Amino acid sequence: MLGLAAAVTLISASAVKADITLHNAITGEALDTSFAKKGGNTEAFKQFMQTGKNPYNGDKDAIEKGHTLYLTGCSGCHGHEAEGKLGPGLADDYWTYPRNATDHGLFELLFGGANGMMGPQSSNFNSDELLHIMAWIRSVYNGDPKKAKWLNQ
Ligand code: HEC
Repeated sequence: MLGLAAAVTLISASAVKADITLHNAITGEALDTSFAKKGGNTEAFKQFMQTGKNPYNGDKDAIEKGHTLYLTGCSGCHGHEAEGKLGPGLADDYWTYPRNATDHGLFELLFGGANGMMGPQSSNFNSDELLHIMAWIRSVYNGDPKKAKWLNQ
């Protein structure tokens, strides 16, 4: 009987797998994670890969860390308050790429980049750091609450 219980546990453990897949926001090709900055495979990232939701949303400490990271790698182009500069504003509800209204879409765009000066951010920031930056971006959102798709995914 114990053997059976162990087998059942094994089967359910192996059933825990990634539920979302990651694709380039522009080309739709599967994202190659082999060049990504290391150290990002945290519990939070694993949870994100299962649910497509950013576990750091609304987490005060994570948002603060995300803000610091944003100021080192994004504000030069997107503005200190994400109001837009060389790159578009990130706090309003207009997205060039509408999938950025979901956490799944926003992560893919950050990881794999978009056009022109918006290169892949995955060599500057690991996946866990990108989730922190995303949580800060969501925290400064000033658009229509009904368009905040990440809240109702
Ligand atoms: C060298 C300048 C530069 C840097 C650094 C940069 N971006 Fe961008 N970003 C751009 C430009 C230009 C675009 C517009 C690209 C396009 O439309 O394809 C863009 C587009 C975006 C978009 C898509 C917006 C939309 O309306 O759909 C997001 C999200 C974004 N950037 C977030 C970030 C974050 C977060 C960082 C830091 C990790 C970052 N960017 C770093 C210049 C930059």
